Formats: sequence, C-alpha cells, structure tokens
Amino acid sequence: MIKIEHVSKAFGGIQAVDDVSFEVAEGSITGLIGPNGAGKSTLFNIVAGLIRPDSGRISLEGRDITGRRPHQLFHQGLVRTFQIPHEFSRMTVRENLMVVPAGQAGENLFKAWFRWGQVREQDSKVLERVDEVLDFLEISHVADELAGNLSGGQKKLLDLGRTMMTDARAVLLDEPGAGVNRTLLGKISEAIQRLNTERGYTFCLIEHDMDLISKLCDPVHVMANGALIASGPMSEIRQNEQVREAYLGGGASGRMGEQR
Ligand SMILES: Nc1ncnc2c1ncn2[C@@H]1O[C@H](COP(=O)(O)OP(=O)(O)O)[C@@H](O)[C@H]1O
Ligand SMILES: [Mg+2]
Repeated sequence: MIKIEHVSKAFGGIQAVDDVSFEVAEGSITGLIGPNGAGKSTLFNIVAGLIRPDSGRISLEGRDITGRRPHQLFHQGLVRTFQIPHEFSRMTVRENLMVVPAGQAGENLFKAWFRWGQVREQDSKVLERVDEVLDFLEISHVADELAGNLSGGQKKLLDLGRTMMTDARAVLLDEPGAGVNRTLLGKISEAIQRLNTERGYTFCLIEHDMDLISKLCDPVHVMANGALIASGPMSEIRQNEQVREAYLGGGASGRMGEQR
C-alpha cells in the first residue's frame, strides 16, 4: 500500500535516513523499531509529507506521493496521528472530534475551529460518528471533559479517535505507547487491533515497547544509524545479531525487550 524506495535525508552532516526501502502491505500492522536517533521519525515525517527527502520515492497504492503535503495525503487516506493542538486543549473531547471533519478541506486547524459552529448546527451525521468513535474507544465517560485534562494515555486514544473521524485507510503512529500507563496501553493496542481487523485500517507504527510490537506487528523493520538493518517477524528480529548489537551500542535506549 505504501512503498518506500531508496529514501535518504541528511541534516547538515548527519545522514538521518540512508537509502531506506520497504513496503507497508495493505491490511498489515507494520512495525518500525530502532535505537534513539535511528531515523525513524524522520522517515515517518518524509512519508507524511512534513519533510522532503533528498532522494528516493514514496508511493501510495502505486501513485507517486513524494513531497505531497499532509492535507493532500489526507485526501488520499494517509494520515499521521494528530497531536492535540494547544488551542484545542480547552475544548472538550467531543468538540475535538467534531473539529476534524471541518478540517478535512485541508485548511489549517484554526480556520476549522471557526467553522466548527456550523458543523455543530448542521451535521447530525458528524454527531453520530462522534458518538460511535467515543463508544468504540470506550471514552464516552470523558466526552465532556476538556481535552487538556485527560491523562497522557487518554490523549493518545483521542488522537486515534480523531483519525477515526477521517476517512483514513493508512495511519502512521509515532510511539503510541510513550508515557502511557499499562491499562491504557492495553486499550490503545486493542483499539489499533480492532481498527485493523474490523475497519481494515493499515498501520505503520514506531514503538519502543517490544511487547506491544510483538503483539501487534508483522512484519517489523529495524533501523540503525539511518539505515534499514533487518526486516521480518519479531520472533526472528529478536534473534538477529546485528539488531542486538545496534541496541547494545545504542546505550541510552537500552536493551531489546525492555522499555526505554
Ligand atoms: N530537524 C532536524 N534537524 C537536524 N537534525 C535532525 C532533525 N531531525 C532529526 N535530526 C537528527 O536525525 C537523526 C535521526 O533522528 P530521528 O529521526 O528523530 O530518530 P528516531 O525517531 O529514530 O529517534 C538524529 O541524529 C537526529 O538528531
Ligand atoms: Mg522518534
């Protein structure tokens, strides 16, 4: 579904992404792991249209999307999870979900906020969908809380919820488990799994929690120093000598199988 071909990107003297190629198959939950500074987020930002690669090509369902802007990709069903923008922390969870369809035209979110009033008045379909999303993610009980008051994990669920308000088919998740407690991590992982099996969402996710990766992802790709060093099921990746060395050498990010 997403094909990454020979993608490279340097920042000054640092080769952040070095000739990386792999595919994210339709219907898969594909994992991307590697020690800190490996180039994972840079690669995601290139795929999501936030950074232009120095060379290489990205395609989505056979169409070249290299250098497309995020809102253009959005229309083709590819989204990176939204961070909740600062100004939205003073809106309720329900309102945060309602803003997303208004923003689908690709304007910035601030404009979307001004149009939100219209959405509220006119679009009962949006309201229905909001309820469905709240229900699906089991966050109906915080629907009228201000988003800024949610826990880290609940904010991640809301991020996923915002994705569900779009017509996303392929979703890029950068560390959905970071800073999330065990209980909510279970919920997030269940939501990802259900969105995959019940709704046909394709995922590519970066994560440091190896348990989460093992449970959800197949295949898993490993980056180190900008390059792709291994690909395969997690059971094989764990045994891979080059991968073990990359993690041991990585120091700060610790050993495999442990959380950062
Ligand atoms: N905007 C930037 N400007 C300069 N260097 C950057 C920038 N973004 C990332 N880097 C560098 O590129 C390398 C890869 O970073 P990143 O993609 O964030 O790795 P990861 O997500 O795997 O931890 C690191 O050495 C990082 O310091
Ligand atoms: Mg990163």
